[in-house]
Amino acid sequence: MDTSGHAVIEKNMGLMIVLIIVAISFGGLVEIVPLFFQKSTTEPVAGLKPYTALQLSGRDVYIREGCYNCHSQMIRPFRAETERYGHYSVAGEFVYDHPFQWGSKRTGPDLARVGGRYSDDWHRVHLMNPRDLVPESNMPAYAWLATSPVDADGVPAKMKALRKVGVPYTDEDIAKASEAVKGKTELDALIAYLQGMGTALRNVR
Ligand code: HEC
Repeated sequence: MDTSGHAVIEKNMGLMIVLIIVAISFGGLVEIVPLFFQKSTTEPVAGLKPYTALQLSGRDVYIREGCYNCHSQMIRPFRAETERYGHYSVAGEFVYDHPFQWGSKRTGPDLARVGGRYSDDWHRVHLMNPRDLVPESNMPAYAWLATSPVDADGVPAKMKALRKVGVPYTDEDIAKASEAVKGKTELDALIAYLQGMGTALRNVR
């Protein structure tokens, strides 16, 4: 006769399901909860600055246009990746990213450290028509960004929302935001965003 209770659990689906959920939840909590308190995952790396109003606007263009469908922003700690892209990505580089743009698809190269790799003019030509620079490229052209203005009035509200989730914008940053992006195109904004990417942690090559 089985006195361990196993037989009871095995013959009672409802009870088994509940106990499985308890076991998996416990395992998950043990792995996930410490990440909210570990300095290496919650503290920005030295030199990380919140996005400027222009970069933030560019980041929104990046999200709207779905650049993440073809580009990751996550260099894995493998030699093949660090030789090509630079220092692997660390959690502290992304604490001001809401939402993060790590991505999981690389039709094009990883962009985590593309900042400073090319000139602004290179990006301008490339985004207007990638094939002018890379003939075999299958990246779409984004020429309309050059004529569409940044939504200057919307920026302060975005910065206030980000401040609520921990991005240290000052009242002054927010007050000057609309002025800072006035007259800029979405192309200017996107390039400003790209040029800042991964620059807080200097490329180690
Ligand atoms: C359909 C897939 C696709 C989409 C969508 C896409 N790209 Fe690309 N991208 C590529 C490919 C492929 C390359 C490599 C060839 C080239 O340089 O054009 C590339 C290259 C790049 C490069 C040069 C990277 C390097 O290290 O040489 C940048 C910067 C870039 N893309 C930015 C963007 C931005 C910004 C967007 C969104 C506005 C975007 N891409 C959307 C496929 C894509």
